[in-house]
Amino acid sequence: MASEAKLKELLAQMTLDEKIGQLVQTNGIFFLKDDSELTGPATELELDLDYRKNIGSLLNFKNAENAIKIQKKHIEDDRNGIPMIFANDIIHGCRTIFPIPLALGASFEPDLVEECCRMAAKEAAADGVHLTFSPMVDLSRDARWGRVMEGFGEDAYYTGVMAAAQIRGYKGKGLSSKESIATCAKHFAAYGAGEGGRDYNAAELSEHALREYFLPAYKACVDAGVDMIMPSFNSVCGVPATANKYLLCDILRDEWGFDGVVNSDYSAVKELITHGVAKDYKDCARLAFDAQCDIDMISPCYAGYLKQLIEEGVFSEEQLDRSVMRVLKLKNDLGLFENPYHGADPALVAKLELCDEHREIARRAAEESAVLLKNNGVLPFSKDVKKVVLLGPFATTYSILSWWSSRGDKTKATTVYAGVKELLKDAEVIALDVCTRDYNDEDESNIAEAVELARNADVAILCVGESGRYSGEANSRTDIRLSKVQRTLVREVTAVQKNSAMLLFGGRPLVITEENEYVPAILEMYLPGHEGGSAAARLLFGDVSPSGKVSMSFPRSVGQCPVYYNRTQTNRPPRAQYLDVPSPHNFTSAYLDCGTSPLFTFGYGLSYTTFRYDSMTLDKTKMTKEDTIKVSVTLTNTGNVGAKEVVQLYLHDLVASTAKPVQEFKAFKKIYLEPGETKTVELEINEPMLKLWTPKGEFISEPGEFTVSVGYADHFHFTERFELID
Ligand code: GLC
Repeated sequence: MASEAKLKELLAQMTLDEKIGQLVQTNGIFFLKDDSELTGPATELELDLDYRKNIGSLLNFKNAENAIKIQKKHIEDDRNGIPMIFANDIIHGCRTIFPIPLALGASFEPDLVEECCRMAAKEAAADGVHLTFSPMVDLSRDARWGRVMEGFGEDAYYTGVMAAAQIRGYKGKGLSSKESIATCAKHFAAYGAGEGGRDYNAAELSEHALREYFLPAYKACVDAGVDMIMPSFNSVCGVPATANKYLLCDILRDEWGFDGVVNSDYSAVKELITHGVAKDYKDCARLAFDAQCDIDMISPCYAGYLKQLIEEGVFSEEQLDRSVMRVLKLKNDLGLFENPYHGADPALVAKLELCDEHREIARRAAEESAVLLKNNGVLPFSKDVKKVVLLGPFATTYSILSWWSSRGDKTKATTVYAGVKELLKDAEVIALDVCTRDYNDEDESNIAEAVELARNADVAILCVGESGRYSGEANSRTDIRLSKVQRTLVREVTAVQKNSAMLLFGGRPLVITEENEYVPAILEMYLPGHEGGSAAARLLFGDVSPSGKVSMSFPRSVGQCPVYYNRTQTNRPPRAQYLDVPSPHNFTSAYLDCGTSPLFTFGYGLSYTTFRYDSMTLDKTKMTKEDTIKVSVTLTNTGNVGAKEVVQLYLHDLVASTAKPVQEFKAFKKIYLEPGETKTVELEINEPMLKLWTPKGEFISEPGEFTVSVGYADHFHFTERFELID
């Protein structure tokens, strides 16, 4: 690895154009097409061809072979021989796809998330990737927003814990390792707070909301050593994040001390014009660079105008050097100066892709991420059944990966049909898609056949949900129920077959309030990746018990959105008896036509066994800021199958200088218990957990009384008081 002095020497010999080139990031197409073909989309980059030799990084280059070919030519063309960074969106796997982050959020298994990302890094590095635009840590409270599938849900602390696990997984033994890739936390900040759940929309929120909810997970990434930050597309309090000096300089650089690369989102710099804050590309370059956005992704602003801005004295060459040095340092950390190809190895890709070990990790992740939302006792189905019908658009489809399944070959996914067939070798397994996965499908012509199949089977599994193409970027929706034909299918099948279960797929918490009324069992799989079908089969037929817990609340109605567990009390909270049902008019903060609480709230999830919480004890009930309180929770598996449970700890600050949530999730442990086994779990309360953002703009703890509870949101087994004393 080169020393900092060597990097400074390199910087000193670079021309202005060469320096600026390091801050330009283009699409792989710019290097893969030969010159005569570079028209149309490529020229959208508005860069002339000989500019290629200066470019510092690129994304979307498909595979290791291309990475090697492009890098080799680039080093020959670039006067300084500076290797490019090869980036890609490795969001939930590279070639072996595991569950989407929203599903992993239900696992409450940081170690498993780390293991998945370790696997993804090995595959990605072999496939020529140096940098992934992951983790995504946007707080997700609004299920209308399609990008909730990319994050870990509605709790900032928990999102930070899981994102830190991702960063550990991706970085492994260090960036210079051929099995590691650099990381980028996105989308900074408050991208999930877009008004109306509409993607890219303005986020108008208070400093208090930013500090308490929408910033902490990014800070957790900075503390975990994330290599890069990507500003969000949206405006935050009126200023687009890409040019938001308060976010990018005052908070990120000055307050948090982050001196890594800030990489714009796709064309976000030039889109400052459509935001209405810049009049032309030169203005875009000025605004973004002034906010210390170092790299301009897929837009002509820096390439076209940064030189002018420096020659005109708007920016100094020292400011340019500062950004260029950040990029050179990242390349140096990756070991690219010694080994410009990093881990690229096409033969290794072929060996790793969907190998048994990786498939096993993907299956385990899908099992741990599934949430049993309802079970009247029909699950697990017996493996002795003779006839099973799988009904619905997810019965045989390979499309159980997601919008962000990178280079994963979906045709190699284990479908639900294949999983059930493999597990029940002697049973007759019939699958009927019945309808499409389109959310507006109303064609009910195949319902009658499905009902007949269900009537004459031992069990009916309804494989329904929202297609992966309707979540992810630019996929906001206002009606997040199942499609009409799927709702009819579920209703009519369950009317004739009591041994029915609904297997639910999708990239967001759907509104399934209607189905919840009459379906005997609901197992949420989200978008479970390559081994989703085998995981679903093992869960449905009891080889493994579901252990996932909701990390993003399910609305009863889209009219509740955004709805989340850590609500504030208000001056007139809903009466307890009306929390889950429509409230009469009684001057409380409730709905006349719907319960206030989510249908399924944060931390909720059933098991095939039952757990009795026997006790919760505190080793003290008063603590100073230097102290901690040990919380011991004893629980017993009172059922007849071994299973995992997530022991969850919530705090409530009874009186504070701001209105605090009725409950805040602050610690957890997932443990396995054999039937009849009793275990005691130790959790800890420390002072940082008690901090709040005060009206004076400080993040501090305040002496006073708190409660500590165990259970899941709004459903506690024990609650005790303790005091923080001066
Ligand atoms: C997209 C996304 C961002 C992604 C980037 C590169 O528009 O907003 O999450 O990393 O472009 O693909």
